[in-house]
Amino acid sequence: MNTEIVKIDRNNIDKEKISYCAEVIKRGGLVCFPTETVYGLGASAFNAEAVNNVYKAKGRPADNPLIVHISNYEMLELVTDCEGEQRNVLNKLADKFWPGPLTMIAHRDDAVPANVSCGLDTVGIRFPSHPIAQALIEASGVPIAAPSANLSGKPSPTRASHVIEDMMGRVDIIIDGGNCDVGVESTVFDIAGEQMSVLRPGAVTLEQILTVVESADEPDWMKSHGDSDEKPRSPGLKYRHYAPKATVKIYDGEQNLRVKHILNEIEKAKMGGLNCGVLTTDENVRYYENAATVLSLGKESDSLQQASNLFHCLRSFDEMKVDFVFAEAVPSGGAGDAVMNRLYRAAGGNIIRV
Ligand code: TXA
Ligand code: MG
Repeated sequence: MNTEIVKIDRNNIDKEKISYCAEVIKRGGLVCFPTETVYGLGASAFNAEAVNNVYKAKGRPADNPLIVHISNYEMLELVTDCEGEQRNVLNKLADKFWPGPLTMIAHRDDAVPANVSCGLDTVGIRFPSHPIAQALIEASGVPIAAPSANLSGKPSPTRASHVIEDMMGRVDIIIDGGNCDVGVESTVFDIAGEQMSVLRPGAVTLEQILTVVESADEPDWMKSHGDSDEKPRSPGLKYRHYAPKATVKIYDGEQNLRVKHILNEIEKAKMGGLNCGVLTTDENVRYYENAATVLSLGKESDSLQQASNLFHCLRSFDEMKVDFVFAEAVPSGGAGDAVMNRLYRAAGGNIIRV
């Protein structure tokens, strides 16, 4: 397939280019586009065949549902079918967090083809705040079903260059709209289950959600990790994800001890001829810079900055042909939990407490 790259300035949106891309969505094609979280790989949410092509282009397992993106509240009525308390909660959370990086799992309207949700009776919905995403959905006149625009198993794309690397030849159009701000995928919050629950941590935290709803929980994703037979509540959580080619190992605990352990490991790995990388924060770069390839997520106290840099760092290690990445755990709170969740999964659960 011939893939066209269309450059669009988010601060000065070219309407003609947007309608050109929207035509492709309308006729059942695939368009990659920026959102405030990560780039998405989009198709009309009402076109089952186009949706099927999204799974194919990503190499995505057929039991991991897609998020439907809307750009106005009429679209919300078309894709969800919920009333009573669920409706109430949906309205309140939408008021507070939309447009923005929150996905809600609600009851699916039959207008949405079953393959969007892998046959579940629910659908994930999100109203993105990115101006290019909004303009594309609006011009298409249909909600857009879109997973992150990476090949399945690779880190999510936060820059157009990441999408180009993964999706060239697999989609009709890649919109180059610059870098994504948030950098980790949206918070996924289930409002359709018995107990409301955060299925995937993101920039909107449980703490913030609890200012709007009375009760909700967040399962310990460190415990629920793995390829267990148990049916996961968010199917996407069972796959090893966000993984660079390098082996990733996380170190948590007291700073001096962490440095000691990591430097020790680097020494050993180097003797085996391995190329080592360290993922850390600005404050700690100096401990490692003579020993390995060091990348910083940003300031230790700035979890939003860390989230925004994480996937680019993981992809950069691959570009630099690093075999082993030693990553320092980042502080929890704010977007820190989302960063740790993605790191943990990139490491396949390999975390060492020193
Ligand atoms: O920020 C984001 O959410 C990005 C941008 C493009 O919007 N999209 C994204 O999509 O990360 P994806 O497909 O990579 O992740 C969607 C997550 C998966 O973990 C999936 O299992 C979950 O949402 N999900 C979607 N629909 C669901 C449903 N009906 N029930 C439970 N989980 C669902
Ligand atoms: Mg994804």
